[in-house]
Amino acid sequence: MLNFVIENTNKFIASVPKSRRKQYGQFFTSKASAKFMAELFDVDFSMPEITLLDAGCGTGVLTAAWVDMVRSRGYKGNIKVTCYETDTMVVSVLIENLEYIKKHCHIEYEVREENYITTQQFEQNMLFGDEPQQFDYIIGNPPYKKIPKDTPEAKAMSSVCYGAPNLYSLFCCMGIRNLKEGKEMVYIIPRSWTSGAYFEYFRRYMFANCVLTDIHLFESRDKVFDGESVLQETIIIKLKKQRHKPESIRMTTSSTSDFSDISTFNAPYDAVVARNHYVFLVTNKKQADVLEKVNKMPATLLTINMPMKTGLIVDFRTREILRDELEDGCYPLLYSQHIKDGRVVWPQGKEGECILTDRKAFLQKNDNYLLVKRFTAKEEKRRLQCGIYLKQRYPQFKYISTQNKVNFIKCDSPCVAYGLYVLLNSTMYDTYYRLLNGSTQVNSTEINSIPVPERSVIEEMGRALMYQELTEINCNQIVEQWIR
Ligand SMILES: C[S@@+](CC[C@H](N)C(=O)[O-])C[C@H]1O[C@@H](n2cnc3c(N)ncnc32)[C@H](O)[C@@H]1O
Repeated sequence: MLNFVIENTNKFIASVPKSRRKQYGQFFTSKASAKFMAELFDVDFSMPEITLLDAGCGTGVLTAAWVDMVRSRGYKGNIKVTCYETDTMVVSVLIENLEYIKKHCHIEYEVREENYITTQQFEQNMLFGDEPQQFDYIIGNPPYKKIPKDTPEAKAMSSVCYGAPNLYSLFCCMGIRNLKEGKEMVYIIPRSWTSGAYFEYFRRYMFANCVLTDIHLFESRDKVFDGESVLQETIIIKLKKQRHKPESIRMTTSSTSDFSDISTFNAPYDAVVARNHYVFLVTNKKQADVLEKVNKMPATLLTINMPMKTGLIVDFRTREILRDELEDGCYPLLYSQHIKDGRVVWPQGKEGECILTDRKAFLQKNDNYLLVKRFTAKEEKRRLQCGIYLKQRYPQFKYISTQNKVNFIKCDSPCVAYGLYVLLNSTMYDTYYRLLNGSTQVNSTEINSIPVPERSVIEEMGRALMYQELTEINCNQIVEQWIR
């Protein structure tokens, strides 16, 4: 049955321009991913009737996989499926598919050709106390699309939005609202919600109502969706609507698109879902150990008063004050290219590496800093790449400046600059950061949330490195003495 639906989907993909499908955030789940998602459900077969919701259902691939799974496991009761879809073109294919499923698997279905978000009440209305329609199981691959904060969808769900939201997070929250207590929802969504400020309200809503029971990660981004290369890294999550936390979350990974080489790790729940609701995608024991060790640390860069910040200068907007060589009144402007083997090496004969200004907003005190690149290439070995800048090497300058493609930490002593280098240049902290954030960007808010030792320990660590080579191995040896 799933094959029939997939064939029809492929015909639809071939007949509709990519640009149109993009408009709807439309790409279709592959057969293997749909089957995998359906099989994650732990269906209660004692119920005489089961209701399923598939919102943003496209051609119905996920519904087909779910019904296939339930019937092949021997369920004989009634199945009532509700599908939401706004694209009239895809709806005709959907209905053909649902008719086929109805004929072969005896289901009832309802297609709602309406906006899943705006046709329902999300924000609790004290006066009317609207009760949402609720379903036993929900399966979904929602549209992934950033939308402006003044769109009807964002306004309808303002309590879970921070700035411009992404439609997938709205679908997910509405799904949680539409789910019966104790029941399950499986979604395939980007991993971007797992950290950062933008999705904080989303995470809060999720964990106020549900627990995570399963997460699947794809080692390669290709072929998760049929006929489309979706560049965002996606994950499959299973949520259960209950407050009681399970001991562990089943973390699975596969490197192939047919899920033939799944590896499984049961990660402690609290290691994956941190107290601040960041979600760490831990897939093996080594990573779990890193989390456990780092999470025991008592401070953060904020509590020791040395926050990471983003560089001050957007170079293409300030071209008129940039110089290639020093002139009277010029100061060094530090770029990520000045980070070399653990140190900041300036000048390098780089274009625009001096800045001629007395504007305070463009300058920072010549002090001791740790610079960290904001952007690294995906294939680079390390996400955290840093360099130590010491003011004593540049005593002639009262100020310096930094380009916005680097982050910096102002350190209150050279030893602390070395100590923070030890931490951020260690394998342990690089691993921790990757578990926290899947993107290639280094986000200062997230670095500021990472647990670190007390300032005095950081200073000791720095002292231990000061007269050694600034290698990752040396940093690891020092870190391992202090963080066990
Ligand atoms: C990423 S596609 C996934 C389709 C299908 N679930 C699958 O996995 O193959 C999302 C679908 O949601 C539909 N959609 C977009 N916005 C919607 C909305 N506000 N309400 C209902 N459906 C919507 C799109 O037309 C598209 O078919």
